[in-house]
Amino acid sequence: MRITNKHVFWLKALMHVVAILPIIYLVLAVLGDEAGGDPVQYIIHYTGIGALNTFLITLCISPIAKKFKQGALIQTRRLIGLYVFAYATLHLMAFISLDLLFEWTLFFQETVKRPYIVVGTVAYLLLLALSVTSLNAVRRKMGKRWQQLHNSVYLVAVLVPIHFFWSVKSEIIEPSIYIAVAALLLFFRKSQIQRIFKRK
Ligand code: HEM
Repeated sequence: MRITNKHVFWLKALMHVVAILPIIYLVLAVLGDEAGGDPVQYIIHYTGIGALNTFLITLCISPIAKKFKQGALIQTRRLIGLYVFAYATLHLMAFISLDLLFEWTLFFQETVKRPYIVVGTVAYLLLLALSVTSLNAVRRKMGKRWQQLHNSVYLVAVLVPIHFFWSVKSEIIEPSIYIAVAALLLFFRKSQIQRIFKRK
């Protein structure tokens, strides 16, 4: 079956629901006192994992579209990418507001103490740049530079699993699985990545 623009419309509607439901669940869990003994940590972890999972889904779209010759699927990539940014923003906001209570000096102290925050911040700034430039009008204006900037998605795919791995104290199985999955997804795009390095 060929995916048409009409299917894409419904697929996008479904994606909105799938992306928003976990946020509603989080709010209900926190309000209902079901967010564990440390709700602040719960929210930071939940939104961080949400951002990472959604990011990995965006990386799957191109290979799936190519393999099954469903070019229309590519149209859903920007929407999912924007949800990655939304989840990452909630994650960052939860950390700054609930954990640091907007004490900006603490942010810098924490960054020195916990270098994985620097890695997360670089990844976040790249996601910000990718989101701001995701509009078609900006894409047209940027020309060749747009693709160059959007190649940094591969850097995000390296940075975020490192951020996760580095942030945990003992439980390394889950972040190791994420590193393996991200490495596999990057491996599927090895020819594109090699081309980026050859051009430089
Ligand atoms: C300015 C940017 C960022 C800051 C300040 C930040 C901060 C943090 C903090 C404080 C933790 C919790 C560590 C702990 O005490 O256990 C964490 C974990 C995590 N972050 Fe970030 N982060 C940032 C960006 C990102 C981005 C862009 C992503 C994903 C796209 C991300 C994904 C994660 C994940 C998956 C975890 C582990 C969650 C878990 O332990 O279950 N972070 N981050």
